[in-house]
Amino acid sequence: MKKTTPPEYPEIRAGQSIELLKALHILTRDGKMNQDSRRKLKQVYHLYQFIEPLLEEVRKEKGAFTLVDHGAGKSYLGFILYDLFFKAVKDASHIYGIETREELVTHSRELAQQLGFGGMSFENLSVAESTVSDKLPAQIDVVTALHACNTATDDAIHFALKKQAKHIVLVPCCQAEVAAVLRKNKGKQLGKDALIELWRHPIHTREFGSHLTNVLRCLQLEAHGYQVTVTELVGWEHSMKNELIIASYKNLPRKRAAERLAEVLSSVGLEEMRGRFFTE
Ligand SMILES: C[S@@+](CC[C@H](N)C(=O)[O-])C[C@H]1O[C@@H](n2cnc3c(N)ncnc32)[C@H](O)[C@@H]1O
Repeated sequence: MKKTTPPEYPEIRAGQSIELLKALHILTRDGKMNQDSRRKLKQVYHLYQFIEPLLEEVRKEKGAFTLVDHGAGKSYLGFILYDLFFKAVKDASHIYGIETREELVTHSRELAQQLGFGGMSFENLSVAESTVSDKLPAQIDVVTALHACNTATDDAIHFALKKQAKHIVLVPCCQAEVAAVLRKNKGKQLGKDALIELWRHPIHTREFGSHLTNVLRCLQLEAHGYQVTVTELVGWEHSMKNELIIASYKNLPRKRAAERLAEVLSSVGLEEMRGRFFTE
């Protein structure tokens, strides 16, 4: 049966449960939507456009599949994905939400139960813990991490590589680790290369560190055979952090990316960070 958008809610996608949007407080109890909610929904839908074809591809290839959302927060993305995509496929496909804040995990579990979303589960684990937890399968098909704080995005990359994810969708948050090492080693780099000017001033150290982190993440993924696309998550107006990284496993040649990664780390004096970006 063809899904249609309810005429009273033109901004809501066809097939979307009104009850879910009320439970997520995107719609008020009397079915109204404020500016903030309208923006949030628009953003999640925008992201959905990128994720849906990846889900379709995996489903065609292997039927039931798994998705893990790291740093899930209130799990807006997980619930909306489940409602729009997973609910209809009615197979053993499963979404896992990983979140360190216990109250958010409890709330998401209750909501999934209330809505009868049996193919969703939520674990009160850090991303790093989830990588070795027996609560999750050994292989995961799609990994997402949206604004997962600081190095949680890096942990999500490690998770995805270990679980041989076919697709990885990241909207990184600010990452302070690379900037801290750049700052610490600035003195040693000053006399070496004029390019130190890119990060000599403190505000530039922070911004360049953040940019460099994403560059290193992309090389890391390419060095594992992924095809990487970096784009802007347009519509994410409330956040300065709107870089969207999508990596799809294509078994591409890895050598040049690995060499580039090593070269970049050494050029900016970040050799000590090899362990972060070179993973088994
Ligand atoms: C900025 S919120 C983003 C929430 C959600 N992904 C979204 O986009 O609406 C980041 C979430 O990641 C969680 N978080 C931070 N570090 C984490 C870690 N290492 N492991 C799991 N969750 C983490 C925080 O508790 C918070 O709920």
